[in-house]
Amino acid sequence: MKVDELKNVCVVGAGNMGHQISLQCALFGYKTVVTDVVPAVLEKANQFVDTYLAGRVQKGKLTEDAAKKARGLISFTGDLQEAAKDADLVIEAVLERVELKRKVFADLDKFAPAKAILATNSSMIVSSKIADVTSRPSQVCNLHFFNPALVMKLVEVVQGPHVSDETAQCMMDFCLKIDKVPILIKKEVDGFVLNRIFGAISREAQWMLEYGVASYEDIDKACVYGAGHPMGPFRLNDLTGLDLSYDIAMGHFQESGNPADLPTPSLVKKVVEGKLGQKTGEGWYKYK
Ligand SMILES: NC(=O)c1ccc[n+]([C@@H]2O[C@H](COP(=O)([O-])OP(=O)(O)OC[C@H]3O[C@@H](n4cnc5c(N)ncnc54)[C@H](O)[C@@H]3O)[C@@H](O)[C@H]2O)c1
Repeated sequence: MKVDELKNVCVVGAGNMGHQISLQCALFGYKTVVTDVVPAVLEKANQFVDTYLAGRVQKGKLTEDAAKKARGLISFTGDLQEAAKDADLVIEAVLERVELKRKVFADLDKFAPAKAILATNSSMIVSSKIADVTSRPSQVCNLHFFNPALVMKLVEVVQGPHVSDETAQCMMDFCLKIDKVPILIKKEVDGFVLNRIFGAISREAQWMLEYGVASYEDIDKACVYGAGHPMGPFRLNDLTGLDLSYDIAMGHFQESGNPADLPTPSLVKKVVEGKLGQKTGEGWYKYK
């Protein structure tokens, strides 16, 4: 598919990432249908659209007309089949579990038109671990947005060995259309480019905390005031979700069998206590 043929987007999963990816698509003129299995999540995402657009208009960042247009282009449904039926591009943003993603992609292959590109926003899971459940592996790729997706410019397009040049090019062009900065990753590696770099920093930070080298506040200060990062790894972890870090670490461990890949005991404790970061009001830090 060429990017000019791409008109309709479907986003599966309206959580942390999905609700913002979908709004970004609508803001740049794409008819976007969002779906989730939890009605309350869909309702929250729907309300977010109103709050966000009103805020942008109030700050003079968006005209009333543009806000109205975006509002008219985005819709929500709990029915995956309904959401995917006219899609040219599906962006999957469900939990970071490979079996769940494989099930969602098998369903999408049945429901989305044959020409549609099926992309996963996964942080770590390469699309070749998913593409074989579909009848169109050359149209299945990674399209990795960063959090918060309305703000962060980078998107990683990962062209696994099964992905056609046409699909990869279409995704690179699509990113430009929605005002993002795409990079093409030509080999499948877990974590792609940026999460491999930040994963290394985050792992080091977590184990330094575990061994009592420094507090999480001081480790964050080191990165902010010494390395010029906008926030430290623990603050960033609160933004992205401690449950996601847990899932990623477990995924690594299951593949490598190396105990050094396991989530640290402090991280496990937080997750067990339901302290998942900003979304639950507490992670490493507390939020009002
Ligand atoms: N959080 C981040 O910072 C971040 C950044 C980049 C990429 N990602 C990736 O994006 C994906 C989503 O992460 P998130 O942080 O938004 O997770 P999240 O937990 O906030 O949202 C996931 C949503 O998926 C929904 N869901 C679960 N099963 C579903 C199904 N079968 N059909 C439809 N919806 C379903 C859940 O109800 C939930 O609302 C993951 O693969 C993650 O690795 C996350």
